[in-house]
Amino acid sequence: MYNTESLFDLTGKVAVVTGGGDGIGKASCEILAAAGAAVVVSDISLEKAQSVADGIVAAGGKSAAVVCNVLNSDDLTHLIDFTVETFGTVNILVNNAGLGGGGRENPFKIDRAYVERIYAINVFAPWQLCKLAAPHMQKSGYGSVVNITSMSSINNSPDMAIYGSSKAALNHLASNLAFDYGPMGIRINNVGPGATRTHALATVLTHEIEAKMLAHTPIHRLGEVSDIAGAVLYFAAPVSAWVSGQTLMVNGGGVQTLD
Ligand SMILES: NC(=O)c1ccc[n+]([C@@H]2O[C@H](COP(=O)([O-])OP(=O)(O)OC[C@H]3O[C@@H](n4cnc5c(N)ncnc54)[C@H](O)[C@@H]3O)[C@@H](O)[C@H]2O)c1
Repeated sequence: MYNTESLFDLTGKVAVVTGGGDGIGKASCEILAAAGAAVVVSDISLEKAQSVADGIVAAGGKSAAVVCNVLNSDDLTHLIDFTVETFGTVNILVNNAGLGGGGRENPFKIDRAYVERIYAINVFAPWQLCKLAAPHMQKSGYGSVVNITSMSSINNSPDMAIYGSSKAALNHLASNLAFDYGPMGIRINNVGPGATRTHALATVLTHEIEAKMLAHTPIHRLGEVSDIAGAVLYFAAPVSAWVSGQTLMVNGGGVQTLD
């Protein structure tokens, strides 16, 4: 008989999540903790990270909070150091913090500084955290990286070129790093949310936009953060032990485009 509990059991594992104070990051922290992992909740807002960590501890889990602006290279180094000092190692890294898109990237109005910022948060930070975490994952004998990419990485839409291309780069980063990291016992995969109800989505969502999105969504609702967290757990857990370099779109079976 299969032991489904052990296939999803993260007891004794240590997870790090960026942008864990809200939305998809928060849900990822909570599901990983529910599966038994000790979770370092990091966010640009210490207050938000602390509140998520406190909630996990109050529910009987293990967690600690730390401030980390993923645009700051020193913060990334500190995040991994803090995790190793607090819980002994790093086994699971969820590169969740990300910015951009929302149809607000008029290519004739944005400047180079904007493009550099979006690539710094969506590509450079995940790359650097992978590099920092890998030696600990290898030494511990268990490593899984989960990047939060986007449906925008495969869709083509107006005013989305920078966000979309940065998330496409994240997809390709994972599918290539899987070759480098596999021999070290480390898996790396991506979860690509469709439109998912978070504060970030709320900044662009109107009734009209939602109706257009649902017209292309066979499972006729927008995503909830728990839908995305389930896919994060799958990639983090032993159940996906032979899965690496993949991108799983979690999108209600459709594309939430506006045409
Ligand atoms: N919500 C969606 O519909 C959707 C769709 C596709 C992809 N995504 C991706 O999911 C990820 C999370 O998005 P969300 O919708 O949950 O966002 P959200 O706004 O709900 O939460 C983002 C969290 O990241 C933190 N944050 C912001 N800038 C940061 C920084 N520089 N360093 C560290 N933390 C920072 C915020 O404080 C916040 O707690 C992003 O990578 C986003 O691109 C979201």
